[in-house]
Amino acid sequence: MSPAETNPAARTVASTQSEMTEIILPNDTNTLGNLLGGRLMHFIDLTGAMAAYRHSRTYIVTAAMDHIDFIRPVRLGDLLTLKSSVNRAFTTSMEVGVKVWSENTQTGKLLHVASAYLVFVAIDKEGCRQKVPQLIPETPNEIRRHADALLRREHREAEQARRKEARLATATQEDAAPINP
Ligand SMILES: CC(C)(COP(=O)(O)OP(=O)(O)OC[C@H]1O[C@@H](n2cnc3c(N)ncnc32)[C@H](O)[C@@H]1OP(=O)(O)O)[C@@H](O)C(=O)NCCC(=O)NCCS
Repeated sequence: MSPAETNPAARTVASTQSEMTEIILPNDTNTLGNLLGGRLMHFIDLTGAMAAYRHSRTYIVTAAMDHIDFIRPVRLGDLLTLKSSVNRAFTTSMEVGVKVWSENTQTGKLLHVASAYLVFVAIDKEGCRQKVPQLIPETPNEIRRHADALLRREHREAEQARRKEARLATATQEDAAPINP
């Protein structure tokens, strides 16, 4: 494969689409037989990473998992299907959306149980950040998600700046406070 084929300037959303299905076993659940939130986040991270790998074709790290809606519980014995795709590529980072459904094995009924947005950053083996190809949104939904991802990035950056200021203010107050004997 030529370098241009391995590392094109742009990729379609469709080429990043990924899917994973798991069966929910006792080890995945709490004492009420519901899927643990942390386990669900792990599955979301993995499925999100698959889409980011398919887009960047580099090593990646998770920079943020910034919005998760846990809509309904998932029961022991259910099948869990997660689907992901890249919503937007920036310079070295990519926003990925993950949507999750449970499936009752007896009735086949599908329920939307969670959605999440994650940001992955492309790096090389030494941990240096790498540029990622641009993303080509094609369908109306992909174009909407592409636009929304930019708004979420702006919101994320504003929130990070706010938290940094709050940390600095707390540190200044602690520096000024007298030391307790
Ligand atoms: C994520 C990480 C690579 C960012 O490195 P950094 O030196 O802070 O980089 P910068 O601030 O210059 O940002 C680099 C890119 O990451 C994005 N980014 C950094 N922190 C982010 C955050 N908290 N949320 C969303 N995006 C973030 C920036 O927007 C930027 O994107 P762009 O190049 O597309 O514009 C670094 O913080 C890191 O390695 N974190 C640990 C990751 C990790 O261990 N994850 C869990 C296991 S995989």
